[in-house]
Amino acid sequence: MLKIAVLVSGGGTNLQAIIDGIHDKTITNTEIKVVISNNAGAYALERAKNNGIDAVCISPKNFESREVFNDALLEKIDEYGVDLIVLAGFLVKIPEKLVEKYAGKIINIHPSLIPSFCGVGYYGLKVHEAALARGVKVTGATVHYVDSGMDTGPIILQKAVYVEDGDTPEILQKRVMEQAEWKILPQAINMIANQKA
Ligand code: GAR
Repeated sequence: MLKIAVLVSGGGTNLQAIIDGIHDKTITNTEIKVVISNNAGAYALERAKNNGIDAVCISPKNFESREVFNDALLEKIDEYGVDLIVLAGFLVKIPEKLVEKYAGKIINIHPSLIPSFCGVGYYGLKVHEAALARGVKVTGATVHYVDSGMDTGPIILQKAVYVEDGDTPEILQKRVMEQAEWKILPQAINMIANQKA
């Protein structure tokens, strides 16, 4: 059984896709041990509680320095003894110590086709604003392993999504989530849980 921690910052629709995938068995051999948010107001924490999953907030605001926050985050993850850390809209830079300790055991969902529109400054709606500003006709999402860079680790899955006339960043974000993110993130977890990635 693959034990996972899901790290979130916001609404948690990707977390919901994982929860639903486990319920409907498109994800097998997997258990969510804990959901951790850096943001106390994240609706993702409610989604976890509603499903009987431990929901924890570890906010940098509550620690005297970034280093102490980083240690607290690592300690909490260690406490749950997980095999995989899933970054599902976690908008905090992952501490180096965490990347080293969990090398090859952290995955991230990014709302573009990496290497387009990724790296420092590209997160959430900003990714879709940039894609529309460049005028691309196809965008999508990527699930990749996390290494010490920003969105630079090995790619596991990608799915393309068409940009349509009249798209706003919000409309495009929703289409990328529905057509790509909510499909390939559960799929990647299922592949890892069943030794296929
Ligand atoms: C998702 O679109 C995810 O791909 C993105 O944040 C959103 C979180 O939504 N992540 C990044 O931009 C990471 N660089 P959610 O809280 O509803 O899952």
